[in-house]
Amino acid sequence: MHQRIANAALRAKVMSAAEAAARIEPGSTLGLSGFTGSGYPKAVPMALAARMEAEHAAGRAMRVRVWTGASTGPELDGALAKADGIEFRLPYNSDPIARERINRGEMEYFDMHLSQVAPMAWQGFLGPLDTAVIEVAGIRADGSLIPSSSVGNNKTWLDRARHVILEVNRWQNPALEGMHDIYYGTALPPHRVPIPLLRADQRIGEPYFHCDPDKVIAVVETEAPDRNLPFAKPDAVAGAIAGHLLEFLRHEVGRGRLPRELLPLQSGVGNIANAVLTGLLDAPFDGMTAYTEVIQDGMIDLLRAGKLRMASATAFSLSPDAAASLNADMSAFRDKMILRPQEISNHPELIRRLGCIAMNGLIEADIYGNVNSTHVMGSRIQNGIGGSGDFARNAYVSIFMTPSTAKGGAISSIVPQASHVDHITQDVQVIVTEQGLADLRGLSPKQRANVIMDNCAHPDFRPALRDYFQRAREHSYGQQSPSLPGEALAWHQRYLETGTMRTA
Ligand code: COA
Repeated sequence: MHQRIANAALRAKVMSAAEAAARIEPGSTLGLSGFTGSGYPKAVPMALAARMEAEHAAGRAMRVRVWTGASTGPELDGALAKADGIEFRLPYNSDPIARERINRGEMEYFDMHLSQVAPMAWQGFLGPLDTAVIEVAGIRADGSLIPSSSVGNNKTWLDRARHVILEVNRWQNPALEGMHDIYYGTALPPHRVPIPLLRADQRIGEPYFHCDPDKVIAVVETEAPDRNLPFAKPDAVAGAIAGHLLEFLRHEVGRGRLPRELLPLQSGVGNIANAVLTGLLDAPFDGMTAYTEVIQDGMIDLLRAGKLRMASATAFSLSPDAAASLNADMSAFRDKMILRPQEISNHPELIRRLGCIAMNGLIEADIYGNVNSTHVMGSRIQNGIGGSGDFARNAYVSIFMTPSTAKGGAISSIVPQASHVDHITQDVQVIVTEQGLADLRGLSPKQRANVIMDNCAHPDFRPALRDYFQRAREHSYGQQSPSLPGEALAWHQRYLETGTMRTA
């Protein structure tokens, strides 16, 4: 018993999840660990959700404000949202139940750049943080904490919260110890100093979290797996997108604009991103590095193959199979992976300095290259901006990828005007679909429009896009970025009214 809790004072605070959840006050703000289905607390949120359901059944409202690293798992966001227990949430959500509540207007959601969460919490205007609920892999004799499979904002939650509840998860691999790099040198202006990280493989911090033991009000032991979704096998569309992108990287190396080992890779999550990583297995680049948010299946394969020298991230985001295979020999990866706080993994200063190659997904792009990553039809949140803005604005090359159509071909991902803009044209340098790749660097808006329509749009939608652009060339108020505002969003309206963007 208690083999993961080496500190006697904290061992004395071990209790059940229900007892710990009973110490959370209604209406309080919780700072929870968790980033893309890894390292989130699994028992206390479930117990809290059960308590909320009992309170609601008795006619008493009980809701909390939830701050996390990014998305979490069904035992956290899913359980609390199902219990209608989340009043407000930040910064990124991919849970389907929470998504529905947000889109029905039952839950407030503040979608923000992931690098900005910790600094904004320190600035103070998000309000006080009442209780941190943090999963750790173990507690050392001196009370320092061994981080779990994600780091996210845990350092900040542990520092800022009045109270701390720790979940010590025996399922987490003990070989995680030593893999983390927790940097304690951040400060607010005017005391901010340069972050001394010059290479993706550099360590600048410590392997453990500090935590004032007097703040710890409960320690809960768990043995529960992280829950990430399996990836679908890359389909022909994902394969074609990966092919165009790899050809582009080869071309850039050939022109001497990228080194043979490329520059540190940032890769969004999802099947297309994974197809790109799989494609890199056979590409002629060796000694690559990753400076990214999450370590995904494809990166583990690249590390095993020796193509990727090391990966720096803030979390694992692995399918169950990849997690099992990594857990079987995690110590072999100890010096090939570094997990950092997300304010470091996503820091604009570091992304700009290292010169990352950013590769992210999108929902829609317009003919000028404005990108919508978050809102379907301009109003319905899908997930959130995540780290895409941190990376896109500061990358050496900022690449966005998408199939050219959605919803079985009813929707064109290339539209006259994006219904919501997360990334402005200046932050979008390359767009790739299965149709081809648009290199937008150095192009004016009209030049960009031509390249995007020709190279990225699906052939079924090209004539309508061309027709719109031609009429905008003739009738627009100005000719820098020709547009017909009354018509520009008619494509979306048509979809909402008829279920397709296609005209009869
Ligand atoms: N119009 C309407 N719906 C669209 C659409 C479009 N142009 N494009 C996609 N969708 C819908 C899909 O149909 C799907 O809906 P469903 O779940 O009801 O089937 C949903 O959006 C997700 O699409 P999918 O193709 O499965 O997306 P993905 O897994 O490739 O993810 C994003 C694409 C944009 C949602 C995802 O990359 C994201 O959340 N990005 C923002 C955060 C980010 O970039 N993080 C990484 C930074 S490190």
